[in-house]
Amino acid sequence: MVKINDNYLKLKSSYLFSDIARKVKEFESSNPDKKIIRLGIGDVTQPIAPAIIAALHGAVDEMADEATFKGYAPDLGYEFLRNTIAENDFKARGCDIAADEIFVSDGAKSDSGNIQEIFAVDNKIAVCDPVYPVYVDTNVMAGRTGTARDDGVWSDVIYMPCSAENGFAPELPKTEPDLIYLCFPNNPTGATITKSALQAWVDYANKIGAVIIYDAAYEAYISENDVPHSIYECDGARTCAIELHSFSKNAGFTGVRLGYTVIPKDLKVDGVMLHSLWARRHGTKYNGAPYIVQKAGAAVYTDEGKAQIKEQIAYYMRNASCILDGLKSAGYTVSGGVNAPYIWLKTPDRMDSWAFFDYLLKEAGIVGTPGVGFGPHGEGYFRLTAFGSYENTKEAIERIKSL
Ligand code: MLT
Repeated sequence: MVKINDNYLKLKSSYLFSDIARKVKEFESSNPDKKIIRLGIGDVTQPIAPAIIAALHGAVDEMADEATFKGYAPDLGYEFLRNTIAENDFKARGCDIAADEIFVSDGAKSDSGNIQEIFAVDNKIAVCDPVYPVYVDTNVMAGRTGTARDDGVWSDVIYMPCSAENGFAPELPKTEPDLIYLCFPNNPTGATITKSALQAWVDYANKIGAVIIYDAAYEAYISENDVPHSIYECDGARTCAIELHSFSKNAGFTGVRLGYTVIPKDLKVDGVMLHSLWARRHGTKYNGAPYIVQKAGAAVYTDEGKAQIKEQIAYYMRNASCILDGLKSAGYTVSGGVNAPYIWLKTPDRMDSWAFFDYLLKEAGIVGTPGVGFGPHGEGYFRLTAFGSYENTKEAIERIKSL
């Protein structure tokens, strides 16, 4: 008789952002006249920039003409996109990454969830706490995490607490991990890492033979000089790091879907190139991001595209400053929001994260994300995103101030 993958039964019944969406829907249907301001999930609100839209339109027209029509995309992505990524995101920053070490995909969420498939089930993972839930949940699905305690802590996961005491930056774990998930600028805390601190992680991973999965989805929001945009800015990263990128947050592709993963050819485990395993996996399970979307992705790197997305990022970062300054003046303890579109705040009066979620929704009509949804060390914290419209963000802060 058929059996299910019972690792799925170990998961909480639904994903964090699905839980929030359900709660908001319930609130909305019993309060139809209340204007709700959504600063919960990190979903962009500004339309895609004109240069990118023009490229999309152009590519759609190509699909309508027999002479320019495209069928299946190359497994690893079109060269025009991989070349421009290698040039702009890596070579221009002094990072030694070649176009054929870049795998184009439909986004960093899928890649961050799928990448664990090329590693043995008995590898030990280390994650920050709080953490983007996809890293942990996908390892649960694979059967790599052991059993869960009531507070959601997994017996076989190494947690690296990120708290106000350590500036929300993880310390090297006491138990040796095999796979280390790092995300900087960080989701959910908005914290960053300096180049020398990241170098210490690279040295550590090379020393113990671990692999770092480095999620750089928010690198476009970096505004300070000493914050690395890529782990490959560090010496030795080619032999220990995989890097994930997204077009969602820098160019508004949350609904269009595009991302990429970098696996340097020097990254080997027991003499096996991880690049070959991921290429095999990609070729077998994936037919490539759509041509029209890859054309749109290439437009992100044109002079016009760069200028337009820079403006969008500045727009969101004005929201971030509005939230940071507004909450500080209202007496909240806040961090993040300088190199990241997320603001991490301590809940007032020792309220727990979900109690504050309910309070903010009911009293102010504002949706945020409870910190505990990202892990036990997120308890007592709350995340707001800068991805709303400026008008809504301003209104939300006025509402919070008048609570
Ligand atoms: C978040 O809100 O944490 C992100 O938007 C989720 C994602 O990018 O998948």
